[in-house]
Amino acid sequence: MKQKTLYVCQQCGTTAVQWKGRCSSCGEWNSLVEEVIFEGPKSKQTSAKISEGEIVKLDDINPEDLQRLPTYDSELNRVLGDGIVPGSVVLIGGEPGIGKSTILLQLAIFQKNLKILYICGEESLSQVKLHATRLGGSNENCYMLSETTLEKITAAARELNPDILIVDSIQTVQSIGIDSTPGSVVQIRECTSALIQYAKKNNTCVFLIGHITKEGYIAGPKILEHMVDTVLYFEGDRHYNYRILRTMKNRFGSMSEIGIYEMGDRGLKPIENPSDILLTNRDENLSGIAIAATLEGIRPMLIEVQALASPSAYGTPQRSATGFDAKRMNMLLAVLEKRCGLKINMNDVFLNIAGGLRVEDPATDVAVAVSVASSMHNIPIPHDVCFAGEIGLSGEVRPVNQIEKRIKEAEKLGFKSFHLSTYNKKSITAKFTKIELIFSSTLDALLGKIMG
Ligand code: TYD
Ligand code: MG
Repeated sequence: MKQKTLYVCQQCGTTAVQWKGRCSSCGEWNSLVEEVIFEGPKSKQTSAKISEGEIVKLDDINPEDLQRLPTYDSELNRVLGDGIVPGSVVLIGGEPGIGKSTILLQLAIFQKNLKILYICGEESLSQVKLHATRLGGSNENCYMLSETTLEKITAAARELNPDILIVDSIQTVQSIGIDSTPGSVVQIRECTSALIQYAKKNNTCVFLIGHITKEGYIAGPKILEHMVDTVLYFEGDRHYNYRILRTMKNRFGSMSEIGIYEMGDRGLKPIENPSDILLTNRDENLSGIAIAATLEGIRPMLIEVQALASPSAYGTPQRSATGFDAKRMNMLLAVLEKRCGLKINMNDVFLNIAGGLRVEDPATDVAVAVSVASSMHNIPIPHDVCFAGEIGLSGEVRPVNQIEKRIKEAEKLGFKSFHLSTYNKKSITAKFTKIELIFSSTLDALLGKIMG
């Protein structure tokens, strides 16, 4: 074996033979780290032969039904697309302390019909046992191993042959064949690739826990997310107990699903009806609050948008948004100013999505604009009114997808009126008797209807 020293960018994984202050590929400063790489003898073979029958017609391929094993955890099933797929590799990233170890430890304890091997690279076995006791329950099919060496992990897995292999975390694993520190780009890449090979060969589902960098990406080479089958991010606000499991990539299911949990003193509890908890039960009517009928994946959710607009004490007004894209909020404020005549430019505006949630659904636009207008005019919006619509630059209310699902959810929760775009009319075929649909084509017209 030949030994070679290379400089590897910790950001993008590009290699260089010489150290440089700046990566020539991604432009990151001071990201090149020296790594020693062992090279085996190169194969002399320069051409390969394809044997007969290797190339097949698409029409001739018999699809094997994708086998799925539903887990006990309904939210995890949802984000994975109806359960785990044997032979697949799932990467779960998230901030420290958010609950990555907890969610997979719970799976290991409560999934009694599957054999599970949990690799503890971060905590000692007795620490993990303590957590497990706290979560309650026990599982005689659950095996633990405190190990960080890749070769030992795969050897143990081959010996035990589990249905699920959990590695906590990929950043602690190192291969003895590679002379660089655990957590380095080369180690993460090689160990992941070896674990992927193990998963495919043994038809085992492998879960990898991944740390994230301060920018919020999973630590390691960028290609890590391309290598695995599914990437999930576990997120939430430290000050709230809600945790959201979001799909960033899924070869076996939809990408826009989310799972919602509540972290309690006995672990994570799935939340099946998020609207129930996201809507605060208000007795008084307060201004600056509007309810948005949003959709995350296929699940409708009613969420509370809160805004506060108050005259600015300084020359430059402050704008801040929590749980909503700040650029999008600025765009909506400009639309309110220019198209609806709201004199907002000398006001500080604070926006907050209740419950520590982060929303991306463009249908939230109308509720955001309405909550700001409600706070500006100090006119409360009635409890039983909700909104769904995207807002365009010219102030038009644009239609949103899956409108009937949103209306049904609002009706179920006892809302009496639902504001939506005129252009959504033709996509509604169902009859709604308990909720009134109010159509508007512009934001200005919509505001006129609710605030006079
Ligand atoms: P953990 O799963 O260790 O986080 P990660 O692996 O993402 O770093 O979660 C740790 C946090 O969760 C810690 O602050 C304690 C809290 N927790 C609970 O609130 N309830 C519980 O039942 C458990 C096990 C942890
Ligand atoms: Mg952990």
